[in-house]
Amino acid sequence: MDAQLIKTINKLQDAFTTVGVHNPVDLPQIVVIGSQSSGKSSVLENIVGRDFLPRGTGIVTRRPLVKTKKDEDAAPSTPEREENPDEWGEFLHKPGVKFYDFSKIREEIVQETEAKTGRNAGISPLPINLRIFSPNVLTLTLVDLPGMTKVPIGDQPKDIEKQIRDMISKYIVKPNAIILAVTAGNTDLANSDGLKFAREVDPEGSRTIGVLTKIDLMDQGTDVVDILAGRVIPLRLGYVPVVNRGQRDIEAKKRITAALEYEKNFFENHPSYRTKAQYCGTPFLARKLNMILMHHIRNTLPEIKAKIQAALAKYQAELASIGDPMDEQSGQQASVVLNIVTEFCSEFRSVIEGHSHDLSS
Ligand code: GDP
Ligand code: NA
Ligand code: MG
Repeated sequence: MDAQLIKTINKLQDAFTTVGVHNPVDLPQIVVIGSQSSGKSSVLENIVGRDFLPRGTGIVTRRPLVKTKKDEDAAPSTPEREENPDEWGEFLHKPGVKFYDFSKIREEIVQETEAKTGRNAGISPLPINLRIFSPNVLTLTLVDLPGMTKVPIGDQPKDIEKQIRDMISKYIVKPNAIILAVTAGNTDLANSDGLKFAREVDPEGSRTIGVLTKIDLMDQGTDVVDILAGRVIPLRLGYVPVVNRGQRDIEAKKRITAALEYEKNFFENHPSYRTKAQYCGTPFLARKLNMILMHHIRNTLPEIKAKIQAALAKYQAELASIGDPMDEQSGQQASVVLNIVTEFCSEFRSVIEGHSHDLSS
């Protein structure tokens, strides 16, 4: 996403947080749904460009993970950035503890999951809240969910299917949820749990993106070209085929940068996808998400303006009533907020206007 827009929105978010208004832009949440082991956690991780989610065969994600992330412009992380002291994660259940090592974030997620669900495949609707802090990037919430499953195993309740559906439903019914409906390319699209569920809450398909994983595992001579062309189950926002790391890559600790490079080569050299490689893979999925975000921001502009005006009026009134020189600190604070908000109004307008071309597509 445009660096100037990110800076502007972050400034606004910070200014509003100072005055007690949270999430003024009400940025969408990105929610992944689909069958167990279809590759949901892998997709999220690739979008973020960092390794931090537990992934694997069987039910690995057993509690919703609500992650407020800072958007990274679809750019894959560079190895240097992995040692960046400006980037860290923080859990709601461990306030003040900064995790600079992303593998420790994964360990903490596993531990917290086991603390609430036991070791034997149990699930819990209690979300784990993780925030990733990073400079010059946009705060965005991503939700990783347990996969849909039908037959209980281990400590799972008899009604596991219903429990997981209820859990997922809470996140995807929100009108500002962007649904990534994940289906493995080597399974039948008509049986896709993710797509079916997405359709129930978003019948118009205005906020559902189809993600096709495991394209590398499809039988020789088969491909997803018909699906991409909308000839199987059409989807307004379309489908994006991706290649994530396989189980062996995870065990060998293959880096995200290497995985994205592999994915790029895969699509560029595959006879079925060669001619449309720019519409395939994680970077294209990230660009699609950015575009949806821009549309969303534009659509909520009137609401943001109203909030800014209300905040301005409130602080002008407060400033007027402060008058007391003893209360210097709050006076200063209020005028700082006032300045930022005023500055924001003109900045945001010019940034958005500069984007009107991208938005009118
Ligand atoms: P989730 O249960 O839906 O969150 O799926 P995970 O992300 O945990 O992935 C499940 C398993 O599938 C892991 O072993 C991944 O390595 C593997 N996997 C996911 N996506 C792909 C892919 O595109 N290609 C290959 N070869 N394996 C994948
Ligand atoms: Na899994
Ligand atoms: Mg998972």
